This record gives sequence, structure tokens and C-alpha cells, in this order.
Amino acid sequence: MKIIVTRIVPDRGLNILREAFGEESITVTQQDGPIPRAELLKIVAGIDALLPMLTERIDDELLDAAGPQLKIVANNAVGYDNIDVAAAKRHGVIVTNTPGVLTETTADFAWTLMMAAARRVGEGERFLRAGKWTCWGPMQLLGMDIHGATLGIFGMGRIGQAMARRALGFGMKVIYTDTFRMAVGAEKALSLTYVDKETLLRESDFISCHCPLTPETRHAFSTAEFAKMKPTSVFVNTSRGPVVDEAALAGALKSGKIFAAGIDVFEQEPKVHPALLECENAVLIPHLASASVETRSRMAAIAAQNIVACLRGEVPPNVVQG
Ligand code: GLV
Ligand code: GLV
Repeated sequence: MKIIVTRIVPDRGLNILREAFGEESITVTQQDGPIPRAELLKIVAGIDALLPMLTERIDDELLDAAGPQLKIVANNAVGYDNIDVAAAKRHGVIVTNTPGVLTETTADFAWTLMMAAARRVGEGERFLRAGKWTCWGPMQLLGMDIHGATLGIFGMGRIGQAMARRALGFGMKVIYTDTFRMAVGAEKALSLTYVDKETLLRESDFISCHCPLTPETRHAFSTAEFAKMKPTSVFVNTSRGPVVDEAALAGALKSGKIFAAGIDVFEQEPKVHPALLECENAVLIPHLASASVETRSRMAAIAAQNIVACLRGEVPPNVVQG
């Protein structure tokens, strides 16, 4: 078997592959950053399985370069917008992701961003480190309360629900919108209220995005949306960068259309819109929501298990339908 893992991932994942197929079957491209495209296209020739990161584009060109031996692309992420699933299907290649294992860790981080943005943690720290803190001030760096506020969740999947569960402890009212409404019993269990997008924009004190990136969700938040939000509101995105029009977000932050933002994902990672970098009221983080020691180990393990199952002729546990 020939298996390529495009970046060094935690040993828990690599060991599963080593035990199943032997060390000699596995190539881990030892790059510090993403492997250059031309090199990837060269080394995938004749492989049986690929374990890529969300930074690798998997499309017809790559699938052609790999050839008919390739059976599975096991993405090391829950999101799979980097993969042309239809193209994979045409090539007879199975695509898998890593759902479930990063739900709680990602929701923890969306909360981290929400709280940091609302209470101006980044600004406060920069202020202190710059030596500007000369005295406690009754009007210094005042932020927005989280407890008792209304949280609007855009996309109520696994992570959105984990977000909502945490909100209960803060006494928040939680409203949500999605293309599908949850079962009434499930809504009740989490004290959720289903609303349309307009209502979500108008009524939320906090909005957190938890949708996948699809043609429908691209730029779901742009100038018109930010204009409808409260000037005291805080916007959080841990989903995918292109869900948000970054230039519009920067405009809204600068003009006070919204109070603050916590952003983990960007339209053209690792580039960040220069206007956003100028916004003191934005907490900007380099795509770290799933980055806990335990969760990154579990993600690599799940991706590896999907490969093991597939190459043994079984149906892998986490096949995506596209
Ligand atoms: C991270 O962004 C993931 O999709 O797993
Ligand atoms: C704040 O530090 C207070 O004691 O009110």
C-alpha cells in the first residue's frame, strides 16, 4: 500500500496507519508548511490513500495525477470544502472527514472568541503590554455583557448545538437559523427558538457562525447583514472564512455598525484582509478552533481509521456525501 499524509500529524494517527500497513507504506511529507502543489501532484502518482489537510485542494487535476489506484481521500478536518466531492465520485474515490471529535473543542473556542471580543481581551492585553496602563479607570475598555444576552446561532449542526448548550449556563436566550429546523423536542431540550435570518440579525447580541461553506453560505454576512445587526453586537466566525465578506466586516467594525468580532477563519488563509488588521475591536486568530492536543490527536486517528477501513474493503465510518 502507498499512503501519503501531507503534514506531520499527531502520532496517534500515524501509528494506526503504521500498525495496519507497515512503516514503509506511509510517506509523511515533512514540510513545515503546505507541500507545494507541483510536488504534491508528482508524489501522489500511484498512491492508494491520501490523508490531506484543509490546506490542500483536491480536484480533478490531483485525482488524475494520482491515478486509478487511489481509493480514499481522508480529510484531516470536519470541513471538506477543499475537496471537489463530485470529482472524487467521478474518479471512484471515497471522501471522508472527521466529524464529532472536534465539536466540543470548537465550541469551546467559539466561546473563547465571543468572550474575548465582548470583553476586549485582545485590546486590553495590547494596551497593558504597550506600557499604556497607568491607572485603573472606571471608563477603561468597557465591553459587553455575555450573561443574559441573546445568542444567535447561524447553522445549527453539531457545533452549533454544543455552542447552545454552553449558552444555557450563561443564562442566555438562544435563537438560531438554518436551512432545516430541528425537531421540536430537540429545540426544547436546548431552549432554542427557530427564527429567520432577518430576525437573527435584528435580535442577537452575539452571532456565531457554524455552517459549512457552500454556494449558499458564501458571503452570508456582508454589508447588508452587518447593517441590520445591533451596534452593540459581537460577531464570531469559526466556520469558514468565505462565509463572511471580510471587507464588509472591517467596514462594519470601523464604522461602529457592530461592536466587535472574533474571527478564526479567513477568506484567503493565511492572508488576512489589511482593513481587518487595522480594527482594534477584532480578535483575529490563525484558524485554531480545533487546535487542542487531544482533539488534533483524535482527528488524525479518525482520518487514519477511515483509510484502514477503506483499504480493507470496508465502508469507512465517515464517508461524506457531498
Ligand atoms: C477545521 O477547520 C475543520 O474543518 O476541521
Ligand atoms: C473591581 O475590581 C472592583 O473591585 O469593583
